[in-house]
Amino acid sequence: MIKVLFVCLGNLCRSPMAEAIFRDMVKKQGLENKIAIDSAGIGHWHIGELPHEGTRKQLDQVSISYEGITARKIVEEDWDNFNYIIAMDENNMEDLRIIREADDKMVVAKMMDFVKDAEETNIPDPYFSNNFNHVFQLIEQGCKGLLERIKLSHQL
Ligand code: 4NP
Repeated sequence: MIKVLFVCLGNLCRSPMAEAIFRDMVKKQGLENKIAIDSAGIGHWHIGELPHEGTRKQLDQVSISYEGITARKIVEEDWDNFNYIIAMDENNMEDLRIIREADDKMVVAKMMDFVKDAEETNIPDPYFSNNFNHVFQLIEQGCKGLLERIKLSHQL
């Protein structure tokens, strides 16, 4: 099983959206038995909560399910359990480096690293800006690129 963990600051807005979108893409390509998906936050503030209302509304509009997704905090053991840890922005990347170093068997990268010629390199935090639609567009592009990369790397 290839295991992918999406990470943002709160595990409330961006990384749950990425989890839901990637889950949907993987399922539509019949790869749900090959790729496992989860998300986590750097902070503890929202543990146990459903995704943010803005994230839920955005996913509802395109009929993507977020069933079963609740916020959790990232733990050091996640480095042992996941092959890919995908951060939403550079701040998340810095926090991840502080929590634990990656070994060379895993990929720790930013979501927008998987988008060619991207105009933005970070997924902006919508918690204060409320720009959930823009965030959705970027995450969708990132998920497409990530899935192509995983399929190539693992011959799926
Ligand atoms: P997220 O957004 O990192 O995309 O989940 C945030 C959610 C909550 C907070 C910050 C960002 N917060 O400070 O509580």
